[in-house]
Amino acid sequence: MINIAIDGPVGSGKSELAKLLSKRLGFYMLDTGALYRGIACYYRYKFNKPINKDTVDKLVKEIDVDIKFIDSVQHVFVCGIDFTPNLREEEISMLSSEISSFPEVRAKILDLQQNFAKEHNCILEGRDIGTVVLPNAEYKFYLTADEEIRAKRRYEQIKDKPNAPTYEKVLDDLRKRDFDNRHRKVAPLKPANDSIIIDNSNINLEQTLEKILTYIK
Ligand code: DC
Repeated sequence: MINIAIDGPVGSGKSELAKLLSKRLGFYMLDTGALYRGIACYYRYKFNKPINKDTVDKLVKEIDVDIKFIDSVQHVFVCGIDFTPNLREEEISMLSSEISSFPEVRAKILDLQQNFAKEHNCILEGRDIGTVVLPNAEYKFYLTADEEIRAKRRYEQIKDKPNAPTYEKVLDDLRKRDFDNRHRKVAPLKPANDSIIIDNSNINLEQTLEKILTYIK
């Protein structure tokens, strides 16, 4: 199977890019952030209190995470509950970032991601795909862009939603998530040594796609 890893920080455009690439190549795409988001939704549903080591230990013992593609849309099930409608909530963005720093949470969904990649020609997008999940992926890309540009993109996506945060709050949250993702002890966000780094601060999605396609044979 051919595997493509796409990693990068919040707002680097990796999900949109992975979607376009999967259409272009006819590959499956797995959004791995959605798995952490699904776990965060279950955490809120079951424990509904600040995260600590004890509750995470309990959580990891009882959860069972699964993905299904329904009408070509990726759904995330945790203990049989489909959390897909809640995955993009702002509260879940912050909670998933926090929960993903626990090594036991990461270990829990490693096989799921690796088995998916064994069974399909696919693109996996996340934070640690090229470094940890698929170190032998055929192609590895690391997308990045200036932090203010990333915050603006994120703000544009959510500004019309009810209770949308201000741009300043989006920028603050993005800085916090970037910091946490880059400084956690296990599987921190960083480019793999053999990944192709693409800064798309000054190019749009289609141009980023074209650039990536020049590397894929
Ligand atoms: O890509 P995203 O914003 O949907 O990801 C949600 C959180 O999950 C993000 O803050 C970091 C974490 N994550 C991770 O640690 N490793 C991945 N491969 C994907 C996401």
